[in-house]
Amino acid sequence: MSGDPKANAARAALDFIEHGMIVGLGTGSTSAHFVRQLGERVAQGLKVKGVPTSEATRNLAEQTGVPLLEISQVAAIDVDVDGADEVDTAFRLIKGGGGALLREKIVAAASRRMVVIADASKWVETLGAFPLPVEVTRFGFALTAQRIADALRATGCAGDEVALRVAGKANEPVITDGGNYIIDAHARSIRDAEALAAALQAIPGVVEHGLFLGLAQVVIIGNATGAEVKTL
Ligand code: 5RP
Repeated sequence: MSGDPKANAARAALDFIEHGMIVGLGTGSTSAHFVRQLGERVAQGLKVKGVPTSEATRNLAEQTGVPLLEISQVAAIDVDVDGADEVDTAFRLIKGGGGALLREKIVAAASRRMVVIADASKWVETLGAFPLPVEVTRFGFALTAQRIADALRATGCAGDEVALRVAGKANEPVITDGGNYIIDAHARSIRDAEALAAALQAIPGVVEHGLFLGLAQVVIIGNATGAEVKTL
């Protein structure tokens, strides 16, 4: 074990990988540990194929020697291993801090089992301190952002600020792998995640939101000396 909680969570997830499996490869720094560790097992003879959830993960998997499949080549994925921005005690997640929520959700929903890997900072009582990422079409994004703020208010969230995600010196909008924008919704505390998810899904212009509900069955929380595996 290393002293890095994220690396230790990722290593514990290797126990869920069996010879011949199709594996969803998540996005973010914790998932990057997993992809590198999986690459080491592949070099030792493990036969698996990965389905990446972002172009960044695709590049990393290619560098580390994990053979890949396109999502269009698979009918189902055996296990998806991905990080999270927040996880609550019912294994509801906020994801999308890295902007990959759309592909991450498609892969998670196609998987027989989703294994979440995280450090202890991600384990929360109530979702919402981390701004909820919502992927939206570029067309009409400002109107869509207003509707997202309405949804936060209508479902009893503590906050209703929304912000277009920007990056770089010029504060350019972040463009996702799908060519869309991201609105970060500062709910602060989400009272009813199911109601908020339904309200967001009903807004024209919303492509996907970062609430992952009913998808994760296993949560692995890494620490400095190892990892705790939690199951529902
Ligand atoms: C990317 C994600 C990531 O899994 C999430 O942001 C966690 O990232 P990290 O492992 O770097 O803390 O949802 O869209």
